[in-house]
Amino acid sequence: MDSLIERAARDLLKSNHAIALTGAGMSTESGIPDFRGPNGIWTKDPEAEKRAYQTYHNFLRNPKEYWEDVLGGRSMLGDLTGARPNPGHEALVELEKLGILKSVLTQTIDGLHDKAGSQRVLEYHGSVLKLRCPSCGTRYERSEYDLQGLMLEDKLPPRCNKCSSPIKGDVVHFNEPIPSDVAHDSLEEAWKCDLMLICGTSAVVYPFAQLPRIARQRQVEAQQKAESGLLFVKNESATTIIEINADPTPLTTEGISDYLIQGRTAEILPRIVEAVKKLSQ
Ligand code: APR
Ligand code: ZN
Repeated sequence: MDSLIERAARDLLKSNHAIALTGAGMSTESGIPDFRGPNGIWTKDPEAEKRAYQTYHNFLRNPKEYWEDVLGGRSMLGDLTGARPNPGHEALVELEKLGILKSVLTQTIDGLHDKAGSQRVLEYHGSVLKLRCPSCGTRYERSEYDLQGLMLEDKLPPRCNKCSSPIKGDVVHFNEPIPSDVAHDSLEEAWKCDLMLICGTSAVVYPFAQLPRIARQRQVEAQQKAESGLLFVKNESATTIIEINADPTPLTTEGISDYLIQGRTAEILPRIVEAVKKLSQ
């Protein structure tokens, strides 16, 4: 483990444009369950996963009913308002402050990267703290709408202040398209980066799981062009892909990642930051 932590620190120090890709595993040490880990929500309740595949369709079919379900039901992640960032989130903030990490692309919807102080966070699957208009793309803080009041006055669904369309939670449901702004910006980061730190994700949900493959493909194409003399590539190292996860993922087994540091993000990420600081002394 020590040698892999030192290797990751060296790779980060060598990088010009390092980004982090994170999943629900980032937040389990903040008391928020993941989905497919041993204690994951879907692992424990496969029926809940099946129901989750209907949520977006329910919104399109009847936004009022969708909101009555949302406001009447219990959130599957529990009450997130009290959740606190853990040392894993804080370590990514430190890497950003050191000028090494350029952005965090996250599948988490709990807002903990923002809460920790990360400056450039792309919430690929949205946020429970926000609402979004699927028609014009405008986002709102959840607090901008008195949702319970609207329900009591039988005035659901909440409507967009810009285009008056029914709005939904910002969280991206299964079968729902990824909002174009965050999809575009994330693709751009995956294309630009020369190092990806992939933390706490099973890497099985698309299109997010395509991002590491796009970065790897870009490197392969650059190398092919370089070998055919068509392109002068500034640095041969191109993209380094590092996984930090409790278990191997398809990225590990298919050789998309260069190496996996197996363990807990809240333990490993701070150790990498310590190693970066030591090496840069
Ligand atoms: N440290 C490292 N890895 C961890 C930790 C931890 N503290 N806790 C859990 N893990 C690992 C799990 O073993 C699992 O491999 O993190 C991974 C989490 O994977 P998922 O539960 O599948 O979460 P994620 O990859 O974010 O899911 C993607 O699926 O359900 C949808 O929209 C939801 O955004 C979510 C998407
Ligand atoms: Zn709108």
